[in-house]
Amino acid sequence: MNTLTEQPAIQVSGVWKIFGDRWREALQAVQEHGISKQQVLEEYNCVVGVADASFEVAEGEIFCIMGLSGSGKSTLVRHVNRLLEPSAGHIHVNGDDVVGLDDKQLRDLRNRRIAMVFQNFGLMPHRTVRDNVAMPLEIRDLPKATRWQEADRVLELVELNGWEDKYAHELSGGMQQRVGLARAIAADPQVLLMDEPFSALDPLIRRQLQDQFMQLARVMKNHPVYHP
Ligand SMILES: Nc1ncnc2c1ncn2[C@@H]1O[C@H](COP(=O)(O)OP(=O)(O)OP(=O)(O)O)[C@@H](O)[C@H]1O
Ligand SMILES: [Mg+2]
Repeated sequence: MNTLTEQPAIQVSGVWKIFGDRWREALQAVQEHGISKQQVLEEYNCVVGVADASFEVAEGEIFCIMGLSGSGKSTLVRHVNRLLEPSAGHIHVNGDDVVGLDDKQLRDLRNRRIAMVFQNFGLMPHRTVRDNVAMPLEIRDLPKATRWQEADRVLELVELNGWEDKYAHELSGGMQQRVGLARAIAADPQVLLMDEPFSALDPLIRRQLQDQFMQLARVMKNHPVYHP
C-alpha cells in the first residue's frame, strides 16, 4: 500500500446490480424484505447480477474475484470502469467516485487510468500488432515515433518481438491474447482489469501466460513502463 495516500486503489462498497425494467422495486423488495433471487425473477422479472458486494484493493495488489458461472464476476468488474452503473452502492478509484464522473472525466478514467483485458481479445483486425498495442498512446496524441518505440518495447516484454508488422488475425489465439495484454500494459494504467483473460486458451499456453503475467506484474510494480 502506498504510504503517502493510504487510500485504496479501488473501493467497492455495498454494490448491487439488478438487471430489468423494474430494478428499483426489486431492489427495495430485496433490501427490505430479503426476498430471494428466484422471487426477484418470478415477481419482478429482474435478474440479480451482484448482491451487496464490498471489497478494497490496495495499490500494487493483485486481487482475484472467484465464483461459479453466473455468480456476477464480470458484472462486478464492469462497474469499476463504469461499463455498468450500480443499482445501489459506491465505487471509488483512487478516491474518485466513479458514478459521479462527467463524460470527460469518464473518458479520462478509461483512456489513462484503467485498462481492461477482455476474454475475446478485443483487437482491431485491420491494424498491425504494433498499431493495436500503440492504440492507447494514439488516443493520448503522442507522436508516432514515441508510440511505436513504446509498442515495440512492450511487445518484447510479452515475447512477441518480430511480429510487430503482422495483422492481428495472422496470430494464434495465445499470441493475440498477449497482444491484448501488451496493449493494456502500454497504457500503463493505474488499474488493470482482466475478465478471465486466459480462459479461452489451452492449458499449456494458459499456464505459460499466467506465469508471464505474474512476472510482468512484479517488474511493473517496481519499474512503471511509461509516464506521459
Ligand atoms: N446485460 C445483462 N442483462 C441481464 N442480465 C445480465 C446481464 N449481464 C449479466 N446478467 C446476469 O447477471 C448474472 C451474473 O452474470 P455474470 O456474467 O456477471 O457472471 P459471471 O460470474 O461472470 O459468470 P461466468 O463465470 O460464466 O463468466 C447472470 O445471472 C446473468 O444472466
Ligand atoms: Mg464472466
